[in-house]
Amino acid sequence: MKHPKQLLTVLLMAATCTLYAQRNETLLEKNWKFSKGDFKEASQPEFNDSKWESVVIPHDWAIYGPFDKYNDLQNVAITQNAENKASLKTGRTGGLPYVGVGWYRTSFDVPVGKDVTLKFDGAMSEARVYVNGQEACFWPFGYNTFHCDVTPFLNKDGKSNTLAVRLENRPQSSRWYPGAGLYRNVHLIVTEKVHVPVWGTQLTTPHVEKDFAAVRLQTKIANTGAKTKIRIETAIIAPDGSVAVQKANTGRINHEQPFEQNFIVNNPSLWSPENPSLYKAVSKIYADDQLVDTYTTRFGIRSLAYIADKGFYLNGQHRKFQGVCNHHDLGPLGAAVNTAALRYQLELLKDMGCDAIRTAHNMPTPELVELCDEMGFMMMIEPFDEWDIAKCENGYHRYFNEWAERDMVNMLHNYRNNPCVVMWSIGNEVPTQCSPVGYKVAKFLQDICHREDPTRPVTCGMDQVTCVLANGFAAMIDIPGLNYRDNRYQEAYDQLPQNLILGSETASTVSSRGIYKFPVEEKKGVKYDDNQCSSYDVEACSWSNIPDEDFALADDHHWTMGQFVWTGFDYLGEPSPYDTDSWPNHSSMFGIIDLASLPKDRYYLYRSIWNKNAETLHILPHWTWPGREGEVTPIFVYTNYPTAELFINGKSQGKQSKNNSSLKSRYRLMWMDAVYEPGEVKVVAYDKDGKAVAEKKVRTAGKPHHLELVSNHNELTADGKDLAYVTVKVVDKDGNLCPADGRLINFSVTGAGKYKAAANGDPTCLDLFHLPKMHAFSGMLTVIVQSTEASGELTLNAKASGVKSGNIRIQVK
Ligand code: GAL
Repeated sequence: MKHPKQLLTVLLMAATCTLYAQRNETLLEKNWKFSKGDFKEASQPEFNDSKWESVVIPHDWAIYGPFDKYNDLQNVAITQNAENKASLKTGRTGGLPYVGVGWYRTSFDVPVGKDVTLKFDGAMSEARVYVNGQEACFWPFGYNTFHCDVTPFLNKDGKSNTLAVRLENRPQSSRWYPGAGLYRNVHLIVTEKVHVPVWGTQLTTPHVEKDFAAVRLQTKIANTGAKTKIRIETAIIAPDGSVAVQKANTGRINHEQPFEQNFIVNNPSLWSPENPSLYKAVSKIYADDQLVDTYTTRFGIRSLAYIADKGFYLNGQHRKFQGVCNHHDLGPLGAAVNTAALRYQLELLKDMGCDAIRTAHNMPTPELVELCDEMGFMMMIEPFDEWDIAKCENGYHRYFNEWAERDMVNMLHNYRNNPCVVMWSIGNEVPTQCSPVGYKVAKFLQDICHREDPTRPVTCGMDQVTCVLANGFAAMIDIPGLNYRDNRYQEAYDQLPQNLILGSETASTVSSRGIYKFPVEEKKGVKYDDNQCSSYDVEACSWSNIPDEDFALADDHHWTMGQFVWTGFDYLGEPSPYDTDSWPNHSSMFGIIDLASLPKDRYYLYRSIWNKNAETLHILPHWTWPGREGEVTPIFVYTNYPTAELFINGKSQGKQSKNNSSLKSRYRLMWMDAVYEPGEVKVVAYDKDGKAVAEKKVRTAGKPHHLELVSNHNELTADGKDLAYVTVKVVDKDGNLCPADGRLINFSVTGAGKYKAAANGDPTCLDLFHLPKMHAFSGMLTVIVQSTEASGELTLNAKASGVKSGNIRIQVK
């Protein structure tokens, strides 16, 4: 028997071992200091930052404005848009002050004798990371995740370590709002000397069928010496939390040598957008019989097939992509990542029937990829908008030759275990596509994808169809992706050996929520005095098209693989068609959903075709048109039903059925001759058997009477991060939206929350997002409130002159 004191020592040692055997991964979110500007000594521990602003990471230094026409004013010819003379581009990067140098400083404590890595999910941009005054790493591309081993720079005596990060954004470095600063999370990873390094596992499912799936896990181990004996015990955990299968393997594993384990999972629950089932491989690593690390690899089991002439198959089932492209900003929150905001975006898209996301034109934040795994969205992950030839004077081309491979490898290692990722893109509309040797660059990038991830094909968004068909560029890419140019699909299909065409970017229809223009005509590049576009969904840019064209391509040709619409959400910057000397426009009009996360009419058009499980019956325009009495005011109905009858003040305007007489009439029901008279518009929908099955009404609004508040959530998590999106509407006494109202609304939040931001979706509005007041646009806006870390109740109050105030209460738990 052991002496009690000895026993205590043994117990303490065991406790210490367990404690340190766990890798410790934390986010460095709080206690940061920030300042814009350059400071010679800011990397040094003794630098005095007490006067700097205190910030929480993720942080976007530019989103607080102010907006200014002269922020990154660009005098350029956008050659992709067929411009050959330079002109003044206003609001191209959002009119926000993202350009310049900024510094962030914090400190962190780690136990002595550990290996320590810092991982930055993204830092905008040209990040120089200093630990205790010494430069630990440099990573120029602002969108990519990078990590650095900071062990050599740590204080050896256990004293707090100083972390300083210098970031710099050059003018004319982007075609949209890039954000600025430490806008994504920073991870502190503390491990034993022997450990699984960042992205150290690669999990594939080489064989998938209904009855069983083969799972292959390759694990790298860092810092194994020649004599170290390694044992890896891995358990595969099923979606219900049970252990599906487990295995222990022992062997000699050299430093960073992949070590393979193979498993069979019986009756797997296959991952798909409709059934996003997730498994986990939990690996315990023993070095010389000591537990040194526990590493979890989340994955899904699903099969992908891209078959010539047939298209895309997920788990053996044919499907066409119903996807959207999105930029990374979160509208009024800027580029600063917030999981609740991302989740809400995906909820809206899911309800529309969208099943895929293209991360245009750069690496996403890891939270988005995780959410796509969990909520069921397929992803095309894209690294670049620019290769070796410039699109922007200070764009990525400055770094391409030296950094492209490292950037690709990080992206591929970061996301190759995520089941949602179904293909990689290597670029978007790169000028290199027209170079006679452009195919070599494409091959270089495609080969990196194949080398690092042999399980997924590669695509590239190509817009110069003539070039890429003639010079061999398109024939090189696993899956040829065309951006727009739907009139060239057939020709591309006929010529290309892949016998498949993907709509890597489609539509770019433009509209402003709640704004309608007369007469209703299809137009390209049209501009109006109010700098808005029509929500009849008939307007596009010279290179782009209305949604109906892409629906038809998917419906009519078995070799089309579906599409990624430009864009799901409006974004900051690129305010086409008001991009040339058109200040104050500073945000896009391409979105199906506006910058305030409010669906435009177009949302219901996509929903009516894409969401096969829900009823869509949507009427446009609104029916409050003082001054238009007696004038032709066409009415459109977006519905999944084949037929509907329209009534104005009870008088039938006749039945319409979807038909092949024109492109639009295949997908929309349209009463082009409807005449405005105040009152009520009613639509009655009929199913394919001629049975009346649904009804919808829109009424002319009376005088603005009160503010109506509706939240997307009645309950928030008390984590200081969760968000509620509250729609604020100006309505008449009966609750009808006053669709032309633009009054200023003031907000205040009391209780367990704080006001975060507001947005109204008006691309010309210069109200600052973070101030608690904003003008309504087309009668509406969105207020975002954030929970505190303490539970309780929060109340959002909204006030405006001339109408009754409104408020809403939200529980914070
Ligand atoms: C495409 C481009 C996108 C966006 C879009 C607007 O050519 O890839 O980034 O600019 O046009 O329609």
